This record gives sequence, C-alpha cells and structure tokens, in this order.
Amino acid sequence: MRLLVTGGAGFIGSNFVHQTVRERPDVEVTVIDALTYAGDRTSLAPVADRVTLVEGDITDGELVDRLVGESDLVVHFAAESHNDNSLSNPWPFVQTNLIGTYTLLEAVRKHGVRYHHISTDEVYGDLELDDPAKFTAETPYNPSSPYSSTKAGSDLLVRAWARSFGIQATISNCSNNYGPYQHIEKFIPRQITNLVDGVKPRLYGKGENVRDWIHVEDHNSAVWAIIDQGRSGETYLIGADGEKNNLEVVQTLLEIFGFDKDDFDHVKDRPGHDMRYAIDSSKLRTELGWEPRYTDFRSGLEATVEWYKANEAWWRPAKAATEAKYAAAGH
Ligand SMILES: NC(=O)c1ccc[n+]([C@@H]2O[C@H](COP(=O)([O-])OP(=O)(O)OC[C@H]3O[C@@H](n4cnc5c(N)ncnc54)[C@H](O)[C@@H]3O)[C@@H](O)[C@H]2O)c1
Repeated sequence: MRLLVTGGAGFIGSNFVHQTVRERPDVEVTVIDALTYAGDRTSLAPVADRVTLVEGDITDGELVDRLVGESDLVVHFAAESHNDNSLSNPWPFVQTNLIGTYTLLEAVRKHGVRYHHISTDEVYGDLELDDPAKFTAETPYNPSSPYSSTKAGSDLLVRAWARSFGIQATISNCSNNYGPYQHIEKFIPRQITNLVDGVKPRLYGKGENVRDWIHVEDHNSAVWAIIDQGRSGETYLIGADGEKNNLEVVQTLLEIFGFDKDDFDHVKDRPGHDMRYAIDSSKLRTELGWEPRYTDFRSGLEATVEWYKANEAWWRPAKAATEAKYAAAGH
C-alpha cells in the first residue's frame, strides 16, 4: 500500500509514521509537510530510510495532485493546530485547515483515493464542568476559536465531498494528545521543559479547565482501526477516558519531578477558553473493537517526561524560539 501522510513531521503525524513503519512493513510511506515552525524533519530521522519526505504545502494544488495520484490512501494530519496562535493571527488557520483540506479533497476525488481526515473534539465547543454529558458523533458543532472553527469547516468539507461526490472518506475527532515529539508551545511539553529548566509551571486561571487526555500512540492505533475497518462516510470519536483538569496535570508533573505539588504560578486566563472536553468513544470501541493501551495517565506522563529528558537536542531550539516569541509579545 502507498500511503501519503500530510503533516507527518508534526507531533501526531510523526508518531503515526513511526508506528506505521514499525507495525506495517508492507506500507510505503510518503510525507508531505511544509515544515512550518511546528514541523521538524528530525522527528522522522529514526525512520528516514523507510520514508520519503516531500517538503511542500498542502495548498499547492499541482504538488498535491501528483502525490495523491501516486497513493492508495491519504491520512490528513497537516493543520495549524495551536489555539493561542489562532487568536493572534487566524489567517494561516483559514489557509491550511480550510484551503489545504479543500485542495486534498479535490485530488482525492479526481484520483479515487481512500481518505482519512484527522480532526479534533474542539469542533463541538465545550461542556460545563458539572455536565455529565460527553461528546458523541451526533453532538452539534459549536466551535469557539479560529482553530476549532477552521477544523469544523474542514470536517464539513469532507462530509460534503463524501455525500456529493462519493469519495471514500472517514473522519476521526480526537481529544487532547500527549507523548513524544509534541511542540513545546503545547501545555504538557511546555510544563515539562520548564520543569527541566527549573522554571515554575504556570496555569491559566484556576486550572479548572478539563481536557480528556489520550496518549498519541492510542490515537494512532485508533486511526489504523478506522482505516482498516471503519465504514466510509462515518465519523468516529477517539478518546481514552482520560479527563483531568489542568491543575491535576501540573500537580502530577510536579510530583513526577519530585517537587512540591503546590509550587506553581497562576496567569490570566485566555479569552474564550473552553471549560471541559469529554469524549464518548463507545462507537469506536463497540463497532471496531479498539481499546487504548495507556489507561494509566500518570505512567503515560512519566514515560513522556523521560522522553523529553532524553531528547533535549530535539526540543531545545524550539524552546528558545518559542520563549523569545512569548517574551517579545509580553507573555
Ligand atoms: N494535538 C492534539 O492534541 C490534537 C488532538 C486532536 C486532533 N488533533 C489534530 O491532529 C492533527 C495534527 O496535530 P498536531 O498536534 O500533530 O499538530 P502539529 O502542529 O504538531 O503538526 C502539524 C504539522 O502540519 C504541518 N503543516 C502545517 N501547515 C501545513 C501546510 N500548509 N502544508 C503542509 N504541512 C503543513 C506542520 O509543518 C506540522 O508538521 C491536526 O489536524 C489537529 O487538528 C490534534
């Protein structure tokens, strides 16, 4: 099978490529990645001999047409993915998440290639802290930020292309991921790398916001389950019952590092900060028999801390650039 992975030099995409190379020797992998600030070719270095990396933009219609035409399956991870950035400059989000997805869909339609679309639970908006409900594939879309609204728009494009043009497509909406190779601008790696440097963790507001954490390996095994057995045109929600508020995450990290669990600072909350996300993944589990392997959040987090400690050379340059950017913006 010839597989085209978009955004394969990013966090989840690179882990997907590693897992695929490890577990599926019959799959030939090509990655298209624009290598934005969030993409890093060294994330693919351990599998470089098994993967073709094409540095290119998914809005480049000619390039996308050629690469899709040479593939049997497209898995689309590429996105502008950071909420905070989407508030300061929404345009790259519109361009990559909407125009980029449109460009891929047109090529998929032309060449009749199977397509899997990676999306987020943030398209559903948020839940109240005391609400017993969880998101399902029937929950109405209600995105809050330029990030989540452009992801929502891209999901709707996929649904329309499946219905109007009959493309073979599946969609997955996953909760918050953690694990190796995540950019240090994201919550967990930022806290870990700060702790390595002896910098106190900083929490938005009171730290009450709840995220439903899943290890990236579990996200990617679910994606393969959907590709292998999912029904075309369907949406599957991916989650591992990992609801934790930000305060719990920071305190667990402080404990893992052997520090006082109350030794952190508060910072002003960001506008429109979603309160709680929670995924009901029963459709995926009952229909496709998928189960997560990382069911203990603390041990998944310990392994992630070990990875960041052992791979400083990977994150140091991004850390320096990101902290300089935040300092210039007065964060
Ligand atoms: N991180 C999470 O917790 C999470 C949760 C659910 C869903 N998702 C979704 O998973 C996907 C991957 O997220 P991630 O956290 O790995 O993101 P990331 O920011 O780490 O990686 C995105 C990758 O896409 C590439 N890219 C960006 N614009 C591009 C363009 N125009 N053309 C080609 N490549 C481009 C970047 O260079 C980078 O390598 C996204 O679609 C995101 O919405 C993420």
